Amino acid sequence: MSRKKVIAANWKLYKNTAASNEFFTAFLPLVAGHDRDEIVICPTFLCIPAAVAATTASSVHIGGQNLYWKQEGAFTGEISAGMLHHAGCSHVIIGHSERRQYFHETDDTVNLKLKAALEAHLVPIVCVGEVLEEREAGLTEDVLRRQVQGALRGMSGEKAAALIVAYEPVWAIGTGKTATPAMAVEAHQVIRTEVAECLGDDHANTTRILYGGSVKPENANALMSEVEIDGALVGGASLDAVSFFKIVHW
Ligand code: 13P
Repeated sequence: MSRKKVIAANWKLYKNTAASNEFFTAFLPLVAGHDRDEIVICPTFLCIPAAVAATTASSVHIGGQNLYWKQEGAFTGEISAGMLHHAGCSHVIIGHSERRQYFHETDDTVNLKLKAALEAHLVPIVCVGEVLEEREAGLTEDVLRRQVQGALRGMSGEKAAALIVAYEPVWAIGTGKTATPAMAVEAHQVIRTEVAECLGDDHANTTRILYGGSVKPENANALMSEVEIDGALVGGASLDAVSFFKIVHW
C-alpha cells in the first residue's frame, strides 16, 4: 500500500517572524505545484499566524511544536490544541525528545497530548526514539515499544486514524550522525508492529512513520527511497529554504 510521504520541518527555537517571512518568500516559489509529498512547517508559536498567512494559497501545512492537553484554564504559559487549530495549524509535534529531556515529558503526558490533538482535529506527529546508551545496551526495541504503547494507551484505531509517528534516535539529533537506512527501517518495523498491536493491522498499514535525526540534502534520497520510511522530520537542515527544498525534492 502506498502512503504519501510527509516532509516536516521542526524549527525548534529558531527564527523570529521576520526570519520566518524571509524563509517563505524564498521557499514557496521553489515548491509551487509540488504535491508528491505533504510538506509541513512547525515554527515557534509566535510565528504561526504569519506562517499561516504566508502559506494559505500554497499546499504547505503549518504545525505547532507542542501543546497542552487542557482546552483552557489557569495554566500560565501553555497553548491548547483548540487554539492551534483555530490559528490555522493542521499538525502538531508531540513528545519530541527535547521536550522529554528538558521539560520532563513522559509517555503519560504524550498520551494526554495525543488525545487532545486528535479531539481538536490536528494531525499529531508523535516522536519516539532511543538514546545512545539504550541502543548500545540492545534496548532499542524495548524503548520503542514502550513509547508507542504509552502514547497509544486507551486509543482506538478509528480515533487515531490521523496518527503520524516520527522515529528520532536521540543520538542522531543535531549530531550529524544519521541512522543508516537499514537501521531506520528496522526501527520503523518495530514501531509499525507495535502500532498494529495497539490499533490493529489496517491502521498500522496506513500510519506514516517518519525518520528524524540529521536528515540533510545529501542523505535524504537514500532514506526516503525506502518504502518503510514515510517521510522525514528535519531540524537544522530545514532552516534554510534551499536546503529544505532539496530535501523535499529528495
Ligand atoms: P536535526 O535534523 O537537526 O538533527 O534535528 C532533528 C529533529 O530533532 C527534528 O525534530
